[in-house]
Amino acid sequence: MPQEFVYRDKKLGDTEAITVETAPDVFQPTSTTVLLLRAARRALTPPPRSVLDVGCGSGVVAVVLARNLPAGTTVCASDLSEAAARLAGRNAARNGVTIDCRSGSLFAPWAGRQFDLIVDDVAGVSEPLARASGWYPSQVPSEAGRDGTRWILNVIDQAPDYLAPGGRLCFPVLTLSRENLVIERARARFATVTQVEEQWYPLGEDLLAQWTLVEELVADGSITIEKHGSRWCWATRVFLAERAS
Ligand SMILES: C[S@@+](CC[C@H](N)C(=O)[O-])C[C@H]1O[C@@H](n2cnc3c(N)ncnc32)[C@H](O)[C@@H]1O
Repeated sequence: MPQEFVYRDKKLGDTEAITVETAPDVFQPTSTTVLLLRAARRALTPPPRSVLDVGCGSGVVAVVLARNLPAGTTVCASDLSEAAARLAGRNAARNGVTIDCRSGSLFAPWAGRQFDLIVDDVAGVSEPLARASGWYPSQVPSEAGRDGTRWILNVIDQAPDYLAPGGRLCFPVLTLSRENLVIERARARFATVTQVEEQWYPLGEDLLAQWTLVEELVADGSITIEKHGSRWCWATRVFLAERAS
């Protein structure tokens, strides 16, 4: 029996759900998926003519955006994982939308292309925590480095070449990575960088079980956590960065 993820954002007034199939060897959507989609959907005015979901996993972001955009919008999705790209293709068909799904690292599948909106969700969690958290089972590619910035810094450096003039990059930054480095890089590469979402979560049991590792990562600046009341918490922030026209 295939597993499913049911998406509906009541904050955006959704009355109907969108369902995608998930798989054990592909990243399972999380609360960050929902927050990222909230930011990306709020960035659909005026409607982009072309959208890329990079680091697409099951394709949930591309599918939801395609369902919320006019027919004729070009929607593309890619992931390093071939299993993810195949699953994204199945989820597009299941939801009656056309998405060009490809596999390859970062922007490699999209040489020479430009998009009005790129939604990046390539693995960006401190590698030891990505594995300990259960978010990245061994079959799901991560390799984001000790401070989680390996891929996102590359995405920020390369994205201006893959954005049309005035195009926007929507990306999450978790405090379970060296977020200041990421934001500084984005501000250096883009005309504007705006934080559009923020959500805090308590450290889950899987991460609390790795407390010594968490303390080491905090000590060397790889991650940041904050005490809220009696609980240690981490956050996801979502940013919109605009390429100069
Ligand atoms: C946080 S998941 C995002 C999946 C999807 N957006 C979601 O919310 O469910 C990160 C994705 O990045 C992919 N990934 C890891 N390294 C990559 C790379 N170098 N290039 C492209 N995708 C990569 C993983 O396979 C995984 O599907």
